[in-house]
Amino acid sequence: MGRKLLTEHINVEGIDTFEVYRKHGGYRSVEKALKTMTPDEVVEEVKKSGLRGRGGAGFPTGMKWSFLAKPEGVPRYLVCNADESEPGTFKDRQLMSKLPHLLIEGMITGSYALGARTSYIYIRGELLYVLRILEKAIAEAYAAGFLGENILGSGYSLDLHVHPGGGAYICGEETALLESLEGKRGNPRNKPPFPAVQGLYARPTVVNNVESIAAVPVIVNEGATSTLKSALAKARALSLFPLAAT
Ligand SMILES: Cc1cc2nc3c(=O)[nH]c(=O)nc-3n(C[C@H](O)[C@H](O)[C@H](O)COP(=O)(O)O)c2cc1C
Repeated sequence: MGRKLLTEHINVEGIDTFEVYRKHGGYRSVEKALKTMTPDEVVEEVKKSGLRGRGGAGFPTGMKWSFLAKPEGVPRYLVCNADESEPGTFKDRQLMSKLPHLLIEGMITGSYALGARTSYIYIRGELLYVLRILEKAIAEAYAAGFLGENILGSGYSLDLHVHPGGGAYICGEETALLESLEGKRGNPRNKPPFPAVQGLYARPTVVNNVESIAAVPVIVNEGATSTLKSALAKARALSLFPLAAT
């Protein structure tokens, strides 16, 4: 088996804590992006990497990000789809419970790329224990200055929230998810308009799967090198836990 792109440190004791995650190179992508890259450069790197969404349809993530409408003075959002209600599916739960900081790091770097100042992780309601793990990790990231006002003195600020899902399979569909996140019954919306134009609270929104967002740190850290691109391409051919097991 080749290199593990996402789960290299999954069995390290205490990797769910900020301290241990950081010791193993965690949050480097946030430092690199916020200090040395423009948001558009991050989007371009994700585009070049060839990463395709892990939520099912395989839509290219960087392309989805580049479609986001950016009207002046209007908030926009990154929403992580952690509903994962497909029977027998557990890849996102595994990532979030073992490596909560990897997802948070991807959310920060991704939100910076998209110009989002508030972002959400919408998690399957039954996974209350995972929600608690994420909340604890988010609190640690705030305390370390990776979330909140003026992250690392860069001028960029972000608030990240975890929201428990409505407990229905359909809430995994992105527009139903957005309805549910707004506090309504999770009925899918008609498209167009697409979330990239009118998503959460009718504002431009990107919805991405947990595994897609968790892949952002390695892409930003290493750049879209040919080795990484071929590892990502190879991952697409595998059916279970693909990015984790390449
Ligand atoms: C009925 C239904 C259920 C879905 N459930 C999920 C889900 O649990 N998790 C997920 O990431 N995507 C799910 N999707 C796909 C999402 O609508 C959306 O395409 C995806 O979150 C986009 O993420 P990606 O671009 O990272 O792949 C579902 C779609 C449908 C139609």
